[in-house]
Amino acid sequence: MKTRRLFLAVSVPEAVRREMIRWTETWRAKDDGWRWVQPAGIHLTLRFYGETVETLLPELGERISTLAKDHQEFQMLAVGWGVFPNPSRPRVIWAGLSGATDVASSLAARAEADARDLGFQNEERPFHPHLTLARAAREGRPRLPGDPDPAAPEFGSIPARQLILFESQLGSGGARYSALGRWKIGSGEPLDA
Ligand code: 2AM
Repeated sequence: MKTRRLFLAVSVPEAVRREMIRWTETWRAKDDGWRWVQPAGIHLTLRFYGETVETLLPELGERISTLAKDHQEFQMLAVGWGVFPNPSRPRVIWAGLSGATDVASSLAARAEADARDLGFQNEERPFHPHLTLARAAREGRPRLPGDPDPAAPEFGSIPARQLILFESQLGSGGARYSALGRWKIGSGEPLDA
């Protein structure tokens, strides 16, 4: 049966992504063991579904539409950065979020419950709202880039107006993400993908 690798996300405005690229420029220029996310690939993941049988898509879409309808549009601010899992063994560099992250958490919790209803495996990791900027390129210990600016950077505001179901296609140049469906937060109305 044909499967697709899917996840549910909120997009990040281009101006905010541009600011993240600008702020990490000096880090990106060095090859110190990090694989930087393509600017277009920076988003807030609410639920990673993984390989999903295509026949589940209509029901998944219905669930996401209801989820979108049951929430109001909200606004976050992308600010600061950090690493997972901890600074002595960094594997992911992320940008932080503030503002109405409680709404993002509520969406993630409901998406998790829906996913279980639909037969997906439980997500064991707790939801930490973040925007992944880079991942360790290989095993070992990539060095953390030096801090180009000691002040917590403010990248800009993120108005969350849509839930987006993305397909991730893995390839040699990294993952490519394409929107399979979009739903308006507040009404659940489907929008052009
Ligand atoms: P991340 O940003 O924290 O890495 C597409 O891969 C998106 O799904 C990424 O934003 C990634 O989150 C998220 N994701 C969550 N769990 C994942 C998993 N087990 N494998 C791959 N991506 C996952």
